[in-house]
Amino acid sequence: MRADHTEVLLLSNMKIRGGRRLTGTVRVDGAKNAVSPIMLAAMLAESGESTIEDAPYLTDMDHLADVVRALGGTVERRSNGALVVDASHLTGTTVPYELARKLRASIWAAGPLLARTGQFHVPLPGGCNIGERPVDQHIKGFEALGATVSIEHGYVEGHVEGRLRGARVYFDLVSVGATINTMMAATLAEGVTVIENAAKEPEVVDLASYLNKMGACVRGAGTDIIRIEGVERLEGVTHTVIPDRIEAGTYMIAAAITRGDVYVERAIYNHLSSLCAKLREAGVTVEDDITGIRVSVDRELRAIDLKTLPHPGFPTDLQAQMLALLTTVPGTSIITETLFENRYMHVSELRRMGADVKIEGRTAIVEGVRELTSAQVNATDLRAAAALVLSGLAAEGETTVSGLEHLDRGYSRLTEKLRALGAHITRSDDTEIPLRLVGAN
Ligand code: EPZ
Repeated sequence: MRADHTEVLLLSNMKIRGGRRLTGTVRVDGAKNAVSPIMLAAMLAESGESTIEDAPYLTDMDHLADVVRALGGTVERRSNGALVVDASHLTGTTVPYELARKLRASIWAAGPLLARTGQFHVPLPGGCNIGERPVDQHIKGFEALGATVSIEHGYVEGHVEGRLRGARVYFDLVSVGATINTMMAATLAEGVTVIENAAKEPEVVDLASYLNKMGACVRGAGTDIIRIEGVERLEGVTHTVIPDRIEAGTYMIAAAITRGDVYVERAIYNHLSSLCAKLREAGVTVEDDITGIRVSVDRELRAIDLKTLPHPGFPTDLQAQMLALLTTVPGTSIITETLFENRYMHVSELRRMGADVKIEGRTAIVEGVRELTSAQVNATDLRAAAALVLSGLAAEGETTVSGLEHLDRGYSRLTEKLRALGAHITRSDDTEIPLRLVGAN
């Protein structure tokens, strides 16, 4: 009897025969971290369905669709890949624990629920492999808008009498999630909300443009200060999400670690300017044009230092991949991870491939080695999985990567895309698209 998809995934692995230069063109999908908030923001629409175009086939999308359905919405995957969300008839305000524990982004259901229904009950996100993941700034935003928020039995519970009221809120630290949650709640508040020290990630900007199409009035997304003038109601609309800058950056680094020559179609320069700058500092040739970015290596690379910071700083979601590259570059590179307290889980696995890395608190000291060697390695989180695949592409021999359930959260058809660039790579299970498509029709 065929094991269900999850079991197959847990048993499956990827085999990579390293040492081949990647060459050619790869096209990136729509951004997971843009679709995630937009799918939940669709619940703000009192009427009409939202069509989210270019939504990637990822397990995170499936799990978020289950969250919307649990609240009374419908989510269908069109044959052209678009996700159609209709939450005009919400029937609940509680996100089930078994759904939320799979996906931290479930906390973003709170903002839309609070604005639409005046209440929410969302499980307090547990920590994950990369860190504690607190939500104190999300709560600060909701309380500023007049909600009463408490934590009871592992749930974050919020409610407001009548309508939310616009307010000024200053975030003590830059948080993508808190900016997104507060911005969504503020769209239906009475009066103007001003968010200060807001996150400036492109996904925040994409959400704001979707909200404005729905009839909201959001100004300043992409800067430190976002102003939202509350409106009475919002309508479902069609929106095409931005390309996935982290997927794009991962393929750019794959080109660099194999010393290849790859054109990453739909990579947007100003979404990735920090990565382009650091790759150039390391001696990689980076050429951007209006449809993508070309990455090639024609000289010996050199060690660099880098620090992860909120956008437009170097993205923490590319730190693991960049560290993998730097383990193959002569000299000493210093990496500082400032956003998450435990985002070096990939290092112990990289050491098994011959990497020379010391961790001191939030700093990784990388001594480049002439060549990585193949090994059996296990992924612990999404971007660590990507880093292990990249190292397998560079290592001598055949590397086996397990823990693919992490990879499938953020990378669709990775094997197929890398094979098209010349990689020798196979997967033991026969599909990378989750067998249970999101309401395939
Ligand atoms: C989003 O997570 C992304 N997730 C993460 O991508 C990304 O790493 C992160 O932003 C930073 O860019 C999605 O978009 C689904 P934060 P989020 O709130 O919103 C602390 C990936 O690999 N903090 O900006 O959870 C927090 O602990 C994922 O695709 C508080 O202290 O990140 C962290 O140290 C991983 N209190 C820092 O802020 C709060 O209330 C940044 O977190 C909220 C956050």
